[in-house]
Amino acid sequence: MIYTRCKMQNIYQPTEENIKQAAEIIRHGGLVSFPTETVYGLGANVYDAHAVASIFEAKGRPHFDPLISHIAEIDFLKEYAATDERVLALAHHFWPGPLTFILRRIDNHGSIDLACSGLNKIAVRMPDNPIALQLIKMSGVPIVAPSANKFKAVSPTTAQHVQESLGNKVKMILDGGACRVGVESTIIDVTDKQIVLLRAGGTPVEDLENFLDEKIIISDGDPNKPSAPGQLLKHYAPKNSLRINATEKLENEFLIGFGNIKNADLNLSPKGDLTEAAANLFAYMRLADEQCGQKTLAMSPIPHTGLGLAINDRIKRASYK
Ligand code: TXA
Ligand code: MG
Repeated sequence: MIYTRCKMQNIYQPTEENIKQAAEIIRHGGLVSFPTETVYGLGANVYDAHAVASIFEAKGRPHFDPLISHIAEIDFLKEYAATDERVLALAHHFWPGPLTFILRRIDNHGSIDLACSGLNKIAVRMPDNPIALQLIKMSGVPIVAPSANKFKAVSPTTAQHVQESLGNKVKMILDGGACRVGVESTIIDVTDKQIVLLRAGGTPVEDLENFLDEKIIISDGDPNKPSAPGQLLKHYAPKNSLRINATEKLENEFLIGFGNIKNADLNLSPKGDLTEAAANLFAYMRLADEQCGQKTLAMSPIPHTGLGLAINDRIKRASYK
């Protein structure tokens, strides 16, 4: 038997054989969910238009919201998108890792049009997860992968989360355990002289600024027409309403705390550690949804520095009515 499979589910242990099988599925146009250091991805062969289209269909995602290509070798980037010294220096320093570049496209394969929603720019990253890297290498193609959740829902950080929302849409879910980072990659547009942050994420902006010795500007676009088209106001939504910056728990509230806060029902990081909080964020939003009954959700203030930018971005969108 090739698969080591959990009963009644599509979840597979990431054995060499199973990753090989998953790569085979990708090459032949199927969908596979795989772990990355940020969140689980829903992957397809970038060169297979039918497979790319089926990602949008599986997620219920609009076609104007383009996908990130995941690659396993920096050298491949040069064939795929326009690079320069600055991009390569960033890639060598931050990859593999939670950083996505928006670059000019040079590969104009028809299916990439679809993956990029017709834009002349493409998003590329190299994930820092051995299972993901092995899957990409064995597939022999870049893998386009959005987060493996239904459109606008909370991103999955365990194989079980994927099973619950998209289990019937994927042939395999490779189980890499809980994601280490827990929020999606930082996205920067590097096509112009001035680098622009399109999405705060797992790589702190301060780390990029220190490396580059220059300021990164934050996209000030209308959030309903953002330049990272997926950055809609309402996103990452739990089922119940969410009040943010809650310094105390009100009656009939279920409080997700941070740091030394009283009466929290769950705490993202009792010791006030932003890395731990980011890793717990999406799983705790799901848990809160399950446990809160009729109560509404509230979340403690999160410091707006380092990974706090990504956490605050996600909870702001989650709280949008
Ligand atoms: O950490 C991550 O980035 C995860 C894992 C699976 O790699 N992926 C992820 O993908 O978060 P997704 O599809 O959920 O979010 C991708 C974001 C969207 O907001 C999309 O609009 C933006 O990237 N994006 C993709 N291509 C773009 C492009 N050419 N120009 C501007 N924004 C782009
Ligand atoms: Mg997503």
